[in-house]
Amino acid sequence: MTTTAFTAAGAIAAPIQIRTICCIGAGYVGGPTMAVIADRCPDIQVLVVDLSVERIASWNDSDLTRLPVYEPGLDGVVARCRGRNLHFSTEVDAAIAAADMVFIAVNTPTKTRGIGAGQASDLRWVEACARQVARSAQGHTIVVEKSTLPVRTAEAVKAILDAAQGPQANSTPPRTFSVLSNPEFLAEGTAISDLEAPDRVLIGGEDPAAIAALAQVYGQWVNPEKILRTNLWSSELSKLTANAFLAQRISSINSIASLCEATEADVEEVARAIGADSRIGSKFLKAGPGFGGSCFQKDILNLVYLCRHFGLSEVADYWESVVTLNRWQQHRIAALVVQKLFGTVIGKRIAILGFAFKADTNDTRESPAISICLDLLEEGAKLAIHDPKVDPAQIARDLGQPSAADAWIPCDDVTEALDGADAAVILTEWQAYRELDWDVMAPLMRHPAWIFDGRGMMDFMALTSTNLHLWRVGCSNA
Ligand code: NAD
Ligand code: UGA
Repeated sequence: MTTTAFTAAGAIAAPIQIRTICCIGAGYVGGPTMAVIADRCPDIQVLVVDLSVERIASWNDSDLTRLPVYEPGLDGVVARCRGRNLHFSTEVDAAIAAADMVFIAVNTPTKTRGIGAGQASDLRWVEACARQVARSAQGHTIVVEKSTLPVRTAEAVKAILDAAQGPQANSTPPRTFSVLSNPEFLAEGTAISDLEAPDRVLIGGEDPAAIAALAQVYGQWVNPEKILRTNLWSSELSKLTANAFLAQRISSINSIASLCEATEADVEEVARAIGADSRIGSKFLKAGPGFGGSCFQKDILNLVYLCRHFGLSEVADYWESVVTLNRWQQHRIAALVVQKLFGTVIGKRIAILGFAFKADTNDTRESPAISICLDLLEEGAKLAIHDPKVDPAQIARDLGQPSAADAWIPCDDVTEALDGADAAVILTEWQAYRELDWDVMAPLMRHPAWIFDGRGMMDFMALTSTNLHLWRVGCSNA
């Protein structure tokens, strides 16, 4: 694959050849994104590297059910490409040296200490990557920021790379770098379809040849009209802004859900009515237990931090309220469970249906289930937790305690979780929960028994022949 490069004076320079891509970070973004690039660009060798020996071993596992990331369709893509032009390894330096283009797809969590703790992004992993690329790259290397980063991070990446530019001791060509921003917009659970048919691909940068080279990679399967080009800073900021707008819609509808519960309006009906307005649109209007996932909260807090840094305290307060409302919604649901169960849950068995932050993923990062379970444990409840994809060891890490009969236990199936329970709290919208036969389930529970539908997926009609009480988020029929 070649792309013609233009010099500053406009003369045509040698085309940039993308034969080998290295991706640093084999996580939820790096793994699926590179698998799809390898699938759609059979002429490019794609090397995905990570420091984690365990994670790389899982990516190389012959049993495709043991890939470290669960995503519908991912196993098929990996099966087609792995060993052909998709390779997973811990040999980071060698992969960088071999690559024409290096993606940085490492984690950028919220800082936990020092300046900006609790809000700013911790960029230590991104910086380590930039330094490693500076050390190991050969010839001209296009460095692509795939991680979500605070606006103007490319400045730091460029400064590190600039310090390493120039002739090398041996006769190899001098080292040069171009930095691009290419944020990822995939959502977990739909990662493969999002990558295969993205709404848009965003490329920010200053070097037209590097931009063209990356656009050509995506152009193998993405309509060129969907490949947007901006300056570096707009690209970095667009990613934070997209997540902030999406999360804001969820906090907005959750705020209205609580008002619906108080006024006999139904949030499903309100969402349908407002979503029919094409200026509002119908997506991302589902009331629930609050947004989870590794990014919405972290990215908004990062935006808040940036706004405060630039003296925009009103703007910072505005966006921070999206996170505040989200936390409130999670505590509100836990408190409501306690209140409906006669004001106490001490010693009561409560079935938690769903622990992942959304359906079709095994990811629990910032899952609302964590906060809601912790509140219920604090109130003395005994939790029986079921999730079709989440490893109980992960639940133990998230709750900060191993399973124990008087606190929480993992359950392999829903009937086990419901056995003797005073309530079931639905926190993840797994399809299997929609299909439960409550006529069969109800007798397993201790009555009077409740279903707390935090995902608005239960139909009151489905319970008419049972003696179960139903609370549904955003609905006052309970
Ligand atoms: P992740 O934690 O799943 O994966 C990151 C990986 O990078 C880890 O496996 C870690 O071991 C590895 N790593 C860290 N430093 C390294 C180094 N120096 N060398 C080699 N490997 C290193 O994170 P993720 O969910 O894939 O997110 C990555 C970035 O993408 C974040 O900035 C995130 O905000 C952004 N993002 C995530 C999603 C998502 O759905 N998860 C979507 C869009 C954007
Ligand atoms: C989100 C964005 O949708 C992606 O575009 C972005 O790339 C990604 O964050 C990221 O940067 O990490 P993701 O968090 O994987 O993707 O999943 P979403 O579908 O956005 O759901 C996030 C949370 O919001 C989930 O807890 C989900 O249950 C909740 N949600 C979503 C609602 O409560 N209501 C809705 O209507 C939609």
